[in-house]
Amino acid sequence: MAESMKGLKRTHRCGELSAANIGEKVTVMGWVQKQRNKGGIIFVDLRDRAGILQVIFEEADCGAENFAKAEKLRSEFVAAVTGRVEKRAGAVNENLATGQIEIRAESLRILSEAETPPFPIETDSKTKEELRLKYRYLDLRRPDLQQNLMLRSRMTAAVHAFLKEEGFLEVETPILNKSTPEGARDYLVPSRIHHGCFYALPQSPQIFKQLLMCSGYDRYFQIAKCFRDEDLRADRQPEFTQIDLEMSFVDQEDVMDVTERMVAKVCKEAVGLDVALPMKRMTWDEAMRRFGSDKPDTRFGMELTDVSDTVKGCGFGVFTGALEAGGSVQGINVKGQAEMPRKKIDALVEFAKGYGVKGLAYLSVQQDGSYKSSFAKFMTEEELQNLAAAMAGEPGDLLLFAADKLKLVWSVLGALRVELAKQLGMLDENQYNFLWVTEFPQFEWSDEEERYVAMHHPFTMPMEEDLELLETEPGKVRAKAYDIVVNGMELGGGSVRIFQSDVQERMFEALGFTKEKAHEQFGFLLDAFKYGVPPHAGLAIGLERFVMQLAKTDNIRDVIAFPKVKDASCLMSDAPGTVEAKQLEELHLQVTE
Ligand code: AMO
Ligand code: AMP
Repeated sequence: MAESMKGLKRTHRCGELSAANIGEKVTVMGWVQKQRNKGGIIFVDLRDRAGILQVIFEEADCGAENFAKAEKLRSEFVAAVTGRVEKRAGAVNENLATGQIEIRAESLRILSEAETPPFPIETDSKTKEELRLKYRYLDLRRPDLQQNLMLRSRMTAAVHAFLKEEGFLEVETPILNKSTPEGARDYLVPSRIHHGCFYALPQSPQIFKQLLMCSGYDRYFQIAKCFRDEDLRADRQPEFTQIDLEMSFVDQEDVMDVTERMVAKVCKEAVGLDVALPMKRMTWDEAMRRFGSDKPDTRFGMELTDVSDTVKGCGFGVFTGALEAGGSVQGINVKGQAEMPRKKIDALVEFAKGYGVKGLAYLSVQQDGSYKSSFAKFMTEEELQNLAAAMAGEPGDLLLFAADKLKLVWSVLGALRVELAKQLGMLDENQYNFLWVTEFPQFEWSDEEERYVAMHHPFTMPMEEDLELLETEPGKVRAKAYDIVVNGMELGGGSVRIFQSDVQERMFEALGFTKEKAHEQFGFLLDAFKYGVPPHAGLAIGLERFVMQLAKTDNIRDVIAFPKVKDASCLMSDAPGTVEAKQLEELHLQVTE
C-alpha cells in the first residue's frame, strides 16, 4: 500500500529548515525516527541526511484520513509530509538544529512501510558493531555515519578543487595490473584467456604515475583505489583510497609545499580547522631518538631518555645483559604517577611484552625521595640516584625502563608513551599536530629475507650526500623520502624518484635484485626511462586516515560506506564467497582442500 510521489515535490530537506522558514508551506520526506500518539495529537520525528524535524498531526489541520495514516506510522517508515512551518509550541530542543520549529501537517503520504529494524537508528549506537555491519544499509542511516561520509565527500571535493587550481591533471590508472612494488601481498585476479596467468590489483598507482611523468603530464593526481592483502588493524583496510599525486621538474620541497597547502585547505573547507603553515619538520633519526616512533604524537612530551651510559656496569643484570648484547636501555618519565597502583603497572608490563620485550622495569620516586622499584635491590643507592637524575625524576614521578635491542626498545617505549597518554587523558582531540618526518633510511634489514629491503620503494632517490655509501654501507644511506604525520598517525608518504638509469641499477643491486628479475618486474618502467625522463617526485595520502582525523574517530570502518572486517570479509554481502564449478573451469583453476 505504498503511495506514489505523483504530483509531489520535496521543497526542503528536514534538517535544512529553521526559524527563518516560519510561516512557509513546505514538503519534506524522510524516515520516521519515532512516532508518539498523545490521543488527539500525534508527534512524528522525521529524519533525512540533513537532520531531524518534528511534525505535528491534528485532525483539525490534516483531516481524518491523514490522521488515520499518521496513527499507523512506525519507526523507519518512509513518509512525505506537506505542512506549514511554525514556531515550536512545546519546549525548544537545543540539541536539534531544527529545535525551534515544527511542521503542522496538512497532508501525509506513506511512501514505504518498514519492518522493525534489528537495532535502533541512533547516534552513538550501543549496538555491537558486528550486527551493525551485517545490516550496514541501516547502520548507514545513523546520523554520525552520515556526517562522516558527508565529511569525506567535502574533503574529496576540496582536494579536487585545490589540485585543479594548482595545475594537476586527473588521470585514471588500471585496476588490473602486473604486481606493483609496495611490498604488501597482492590481491590476484585469474585470467580466463591467459591460462595460468594472474592480474594483480594495484597496491598503489606508483609505476603508472611515474610513467605519466615520462609521458609529459607534468602534474598528475587521482583519488585512487588501492588493494593490499595485509594484516588488518584499526587504521588499515584491504581496499582503501589514496589521494595520489606526482609532479615533474620538482624536488622534495615542492611536493611538501603543495601537500601541506592541500591538507590545510581541506581542513579549512571541510571542518573550518586552521592549520599553521609551514608544518613542523623532524628527521627520522630525531623522531626515533625522542619518540621511539617514525610517526610521533607530539601533542605531549614523555620523551625517551637513553640511560645506557648511566647504567653501564650497574648491578642489574637485565640492563647490563642488554648492553653487553649490543642493545640499549632507555626510559620514559611518567610525571606525577609514582602512586600508580601495582595492578596498573602490571598491565603496562603486559602491554610492553606484547611488543616483544621480556619485561619492563620501574622506579617510582616517592615524596620523601626514597624509591620503590622492581630492581632497586640490584643497584646501589648511588646508582639509583644517578639513574633517577638522568631521567630528571622528581618526587612523585614514575620511571619506566626497557632494555633490549635498540629497535625493540624504541618500538615498545614509543607505543607505551602513547598508551599512557591515552590512559592519563593527555590527548587533546581538538589539537592537530601535523609534522613532516624526513630523511628516512633508504633500506631496512629484513631478517626474514636476509637482505636489505626498500623502506619506501625501490624507486626512491637516496640523498645525494649518501649516494657513495650505496655499495659500502647501505644501512647508513638516507632517502629523499618524507612522511606526513598527524597526532601519531602516518597520514601519507612519498619520495623523490630515481630518474637516472645508473642509480636505479645500483639500487636494484643493493636490494639484491638480479638484472633479469628487475627487468621482469619493472622492465617497462626501466625501458621508459631510456626515452627521456623528467626529474619527478610525489606522494600519497591515505584518504580514510585523513577523514578519521577530522571525524575524530579511531576506527577506519567509521569513514568507509561498506568496509571489511578484520578477516577481510564483508559481513553484509558475505564476500568473499565460493564460485560455481563452471567459473573455476573457465579459469583453469582447481581448489585444493
Ligand atoms: P604508502 O605505501 O606509504 O605509499 O601509502 C600511502 C598512504 O596510504 C595509506 N595506506 C592505507 N590506508 C588504509 N589501509 C591500508 N591498508 C593502507 N596502506 C597504506 C597510508 C599511507 O601513508 N606509492 C606510494 C606513495 C608515493 O611514493 O607517492 C605509497 O603507496 O595513509
Ligand atoms: P627478572 O630478573 O626477570 O625478575 O626481572 C626483574 C625486573 O626487570 C622485572 O621488573 C622485569 O619486569 C624487568 N625486566 C625484565 N626484562 C626486562 C627488559 N628487557 N627491559 C626492562 N625490564 C625488564
